Amino acid sequence: MSTVWESSEYTPDEERLVSAEYTEDDLEIDRSLRPRRLDEYLGQGRVKENLGVLIDAARVRDEALDHLLLSGPPGLGKTTLAGVVASELGVQMRQTSGPAIERAGDLAAILTNLEPRDVLFIDEIHRLNRAVEEVLYPAMEDYSIDIVIGKGPAARSLRLDLPPFTLIGATTRTGLLTGPLRDRFGMAFRLDYYTIEELASIVRRSASILGVPIEDEGAEEIARRGRGTPRLANRLLKRVRDYAQVRYDGRITEDIAAEALAFFHVDHVGLDRMDIAILEALIQTFSGRPVGLNTLAAAVSEEPDTLEDVYEPFLLQLGFLARTPKGRQATPRAYEHLGMPVPEDPMRQDGLF
Ligand SMILES: Nc1ncnc2c1ncn2[C@@H]1O[C@H](COP(=O)(O)OP(=O)(O)OP(=O)(O)O)[C@@H](O)[C@H]1O
Ligand SMILES: [Mg+2]
Repeated sequence: MSTVWESSEYTPDEERLVSAEYTEDDLEIDRSLRPRRLDEYLGQGRVKENLGVLIDAARVRDEALDHLLLSGPPGLGKTTLAGVVASELGVQMRQTSGPAIERAGDLAAILTNLEPRDVLFIDEIHRLNRAVEEVLYPAMEDYSIDIVIGKGPAARSLRLDLPPFTLIGATTRTGLLTGPLRDRFGMAFRLDYYTIEELASIVRRSASILGVPIEDEGAEEIARRGRGTPRLANRLLKRVRDYAQVRYDGRITEDIAAEALAFFHVDHVGLDRMDIAILEALIQTFSGRPVGLNTLAAAVSEEPDTLEDVYEPFLLQLGFLARTPKGRQATPRAYEHLGMPVPEDPMRQDGLF
């Protein structure tokens, strides 16, 4: 970390900086900053309260905790929460993901290797294939699986008992889960975007673990631009830390945080260039009329899925974007944020397409 900041050719990779999706860079931050216990897991009060009761009850009864489904946008702490649940229960967590389990046999191998009361965490559970999902049904319901031995007329089905275990499934979109799978979870929790105060306390906690001196106002400035997302707030903290060390004496004040984040093209509510491009397309390219997802995605050269999973939820949350029956539209607030005059009928429904 030395002269890159001064180089005129250096353009910060702001898209990656603000995207809540997981990057290699996060690995290092995640290892050190990921909370292990419920009381270190900040925010999400309602979810934590419910989980605390369930965990205590399971512990007292010495039973496996009910299966849990966690949903919410990327980077809000689903994987972290699953780990917290396992450590509060005093059991191991085995971790895999929907796309990683290719065949029914792979899942059978994982399940039969669990210890009693273990947590099995399946990330992106909406991406399990059908054959695998069908093995999961009896496993979740009765702690057993049916395996087929042999081929053709000699094939026999054998029922195997499994140790009682807790499945924790995570998904960015519950809507993509099949009904039968959803029904087999005892509890479902949706993680919400964090408030600025909650994010600020996450930033302060992270700064203290990383040994970075930070003023409360500095933490708040980072929190305001952190899109309600701990992963992003931690990533911004890391960049601001670097900036403060290179340009100043290392201490993060409100002014230094604001200056650093402006340098990285993160605006004062956390919008990056892609968000701005989306809003500008809606307002200018499409003249404020409702636009379909695919058309909008093409206009900003982004994948429709990424637009829907990563960018839209936050713009909706800020009230800058509306999903109307005819398509996506920028709201009056978006016009104001971009400093553009609000038209007389900003939510006109005369779609172009
Ligand atoms: N409640 C929290 N308190 C403190 N830090 C948190 C909290 N939630 C998440 N974090 C931090 O944010 C990082 C990202 O969280 P995590 O990886 O659990 O998100 P995720 O919801 O699983 O994302 P994805 O959908 O991409 O898998 C964690 O490494 C952790 O450091
Ligand atoms: Mg995760």
